[in-house]
Amino acid sequence: MERFELAEALVRKAGAALRQARLEADAVSCKTGHQDLVTVWDRRTEQFLRQGILSEFPSDAIVGEEYPTVSTAAPGAVWYIDPIDGTTNFINQHSNYAVSVGCWQGDEPLFGLVLDVEADRLYHACAGQGAWCGKTPLAASRRKNISELLLFTPDVLRTFLQPSPGRQDLLRLAQDVRAVRSIGSVALELCAVACGEADLCVATRSCPWDHNAARIILQEAGGAIASLNGAPLPLNEPGTVLAAGSSEALDLVLKQYGMQ
Ligand code: IPD
Ligand code: CA
Ligand code: CA
Repeated sequence: MERFELAEALVRKAGAALRQARLEADAVSCKTGHQDLVTVWDRRTEQFLRQGILSEFPSDAIVGEEYPTVSTAAPGAVWYIDPIDGTTNFINQHSNYAVSVGCWQGDEPLFGLVLDVEADRLYHACAGQGAWCGKTPLAASRRKNISELLLFTPDVLRTFLQPSPGRQDLLRLAQDVRAVRSIGSVALELCAVACGEADLCVATRSCPWDHNAARIILQEAGGAIASLNGAPLPLNEPGTVLAAGSSEALDLVLKQYGMQ
């Protein structure tokens, strides 16, 4: 089986198990604090994905949220997996969470899959072949007037209410756009930009497993993504994220609200 077909089968199987999952009281624990949670299902799903990938591609490397990375210098491809992106939503809503799997060969994207589990909506893209939701092609927004843009962010508190020094312009951006919305899953928020339901996405902290699948989908849909200061988004480090429906919209935001 090729990598993409394997990934799709694993993601769909993981999603089916998560839809059936019911959380016992002791299934939730805090990582760094009460706003940073993990469940037995995050770990179980990551193990399922890891084992499925490595049994077919033992020379590949895996960067996942819940277990240490062995090596990103492996001879094969590198997989970035977030078993549940939106764990808080999984716990409190049992909706608006995703399984996210991205695959890269060195700096080259191969493919990305993001499954909106409860909606059973699979966003996917292979490099150079466009982006899709199921069998529907995706096209990101062409809007360029700031006052018409809908901005998504996964974290309202840290982005707008407690901005880091040098990022106060984010509040001005929030005031200038048409409205601000939050799903609470970086991967789903980037896919919302990919399919034109959102025009911008801002995240002040995002990890490789959060965005390395969805960024492929977004770029294949015609969107653009960078760090908040305009620098290219690193592949293997956490950072900030600014995504837009087009490179013109991204450049406009960077020019008018340029951040450190
Ligand atoms: C988190 C979600 C959340 C974002 C955090 C992420 P998790 O991922 O995407 O919306 O604000 O930065 O870490 O912990 O649910 O996988
Ligand atoms: Ca995540
Ligand atoms: Ca996660």
